[in-house]
Amino acid sequence: MARTSQMVQLTDSFERKMDYLRISVTDRCNFRCQYCMPEDIKFENPELLLSLEEMLTFAEACLQLGVTKVRVTGGEPLVRKGVVGFIGQLKAMGFEDVTMTTNGFLLKENLEGLVDAGLDRVNISIDTLQPEKFQFITRRNHFQKVWDAIMAALETPLSPVKLNAVAMRGVNDDEIVDMARLTQEHALHVRFIELMPLNGDTDGVRFRKLFISGKEILDRARTELGDLKPVEKDDPAAPADEFKFDGAPGNFGVITPVSEPFCARCSRLRLTADGKIHPCLLTDLDVPVMDAIRSEEPITEIHKVLWETARVKPAAGLTLPEESRNRTMSQIGG
Ligand code: 5AD
Ligand code: SF4
Repeated sequence: MARTSQMVQLTDSFERKMDYLRISVTDRCNFRCQYCMPEDIKFENPELLLSLEEMLTFAEACLQLGVTKVRVTGGEPLVRKGVVGFIGQLKAMGFEDVTMTTNGFLLKENLEGLVDAGLDRVNISIDTLQPEKFQFITRRNHFQKVWDAIMAALETPLSPVKLNAVAMRGVNDDEIVDMARLTQEHALHVRFIELMPLNGDTDGVRFRKLFISGKEILDRARTELGDLKPVEKDDPAAPADEFKFDGAPGNFGVITPVSEPFCARCSRLRLTADGKIHPCLLTDLDVPVMDAIRSEEPITEIHKVLWETARVKPAAGLTLPEESRNRTMSQIGG
């Protein structure tokens, strides 16, 4: 689609440009990470979810309002049938940057297809390098398969590959140095994410016990492995603060939504598989968009909903953490 010079950029009421869309293509996942979902989670009836075609219609409407980047998430995006073609269609539609966040389990067999579809980058979630601990965290014994996918991805144009680890005191903080060392060996951008107070932790007890700050993580990596030099961000809105060890092929960094919220430069909007827009990860606020997508004039109607979303996007989310504690990442679009 040709973008015209008269295009109006979607901008929220705090003058933040909204140019980054995350699409949760499914609420399902083949893992059951402890901090994300219970073993016996009940997923939405798939018939009630948006089709991939409907998600493309939504994406097209966003593109027309100046959204240039799109990330495909879940649940686990690769469990949704047709997602590789979907990525190809997003790219063909004209998005500058099409990326995916995955747990890596189904990645290796999909690498060729994803590269051919034009995927620009992949983020793989992996919280530990120890198979037994991996099984404890994800409730699945799939470490080796994920590791093989990471190594295979490094051999494709998707390299360098980003790895995301949720930092948890007493769970994986003993692996900060091992994870950091990976960046000295491979073109991996390893980032520890501060645990956010989500997921039914209503009194915040689990959160307080497990939380470890990005600053402490960087200090511990520095103490063991030496100086870390800051790496300049390609995109100033990117939430990760990345660093490099001398001569390392990869980067090591932290994402600090809790200790240093990046709300002021948040450019995101999220579409969930059940047809809602979440303008903020850390508040319960959602704006239904299913009816607009299924209307007679979907693009016009979606545009109205997008402007309404821009109007209600809060200045900051973390001041209201209680409100987000009963949802999982997959319910709010990764
Ligand atoms: N806090 C921080 N990160 C989380 N993720 C899921 N739940 C949480 C949480 N409570 C991460 C996953 C994945 C990404 C989509 O979000 O590990 O990297
Ligand atoms: Fe699945 Fe990711 Fe949630 Fe783990 S964190 S259960 S991999 S969606």
